[in-house]
Amino acid sequence: ETRDARPLPFPIPANVHVETVVSVKHYTDRLFAFRVTRPQSLRFRSGEFVMIGLPNAEKPVFRAYSVASPAWDEELEFFSIKVPDGPLTSELQKIQPGDPILMRHKATGTLVVDALTPARRLLMVSTGTGIAPFASLLRDPDTYEKFEQVIVTHTCRDRAELVYGQELVAGLADDPLIGEFTNGRVTLYSTTTREESPFMGRITALIESGKFYSDVGIEKLDPAVDRIMICGSMHMLKDVKELAESLGFKEGSVSHPGDFVVERAFVG
Ligand code: A2P
Repeated sequence: ETRDARPLPFPIPANVHVETVVSVKHYTDRLFAFRVTRPQSLRFRSGEFVMIGLPNAEKPVFRAYSVASPAWDEELEFFSIKVPDGPLTSELQKIQPGDPILMRHKATGTLVVDALTPARRLLMVSTGTGIAPFASLLRDPDTYEKFEQVIVTHTCRDRAELVYGQELVAGLADDPLIGEFTNGRVTLYSTTTREESPFMGRITALIESGKFYSDVGIEKLDPAVDRIMICGSMHMLKDVKELAESLGFKEGSVSHPGDFVVERAFVG
């Protein structure tokens, strides 16, 4: 590992690894993405999360972060909120390339393709930084091996918050490793709730009114055709889960694969 030689101010806790920030990109005053070196020994499935922290205290604060990069990538990407007085993100938002980042090695999470039974189409429903695990899955060939068509919805307060997802999906076709898999099979449906944009409203309301179906050009969600993954704000998780259940979808897990999965570890 190529971390610079500056000694860290505190001893590193057991089972924690020190990685190095490679790049940082700020999208808005509330959102930023960053890439870090990948621990040689870290194994994860696209869609899972790890615990990350900063080496700035005897007992550092760790938070669950979905890995936004695919499992084959040699770096790890994360997409984070900035909370002005947040115990981790108030400091994390200041990171620069070369800075150390702490990471626990265990990756886990519910948003993995193995937790879903086979079907033709996969719907990924996200708000805010909840798009991160889908950024991983959208760049993993396994997703396209299992599903013919992928629809990802991303709802944010304003247009600037949609840019990360738009850049991601626009980049899929040109990706030398997965461009051939994704070709014509991914639809991004971006909506805003607090600023004018081409598609407006909460995804729950858009599905309930039917506008989602006409905008995207698909028939009503159907457990015989669709699988659903859900990640974002707590209230959204609850509302979309209830909506999915009202349409006949059953929640799944890796031990009991089903029609939909929800990531509850995620905050922000
Ligand atoms: P809204 O602006 O109407 O609250 P946040 O930035 O607060 O995490 O929210 C991200 C997006 O999630 C916002 O566009 C917000 O809409 C939307 N949202 C919040 N709660 C729900 C919910 N229960 N169902 C659907 N969307 C929601």
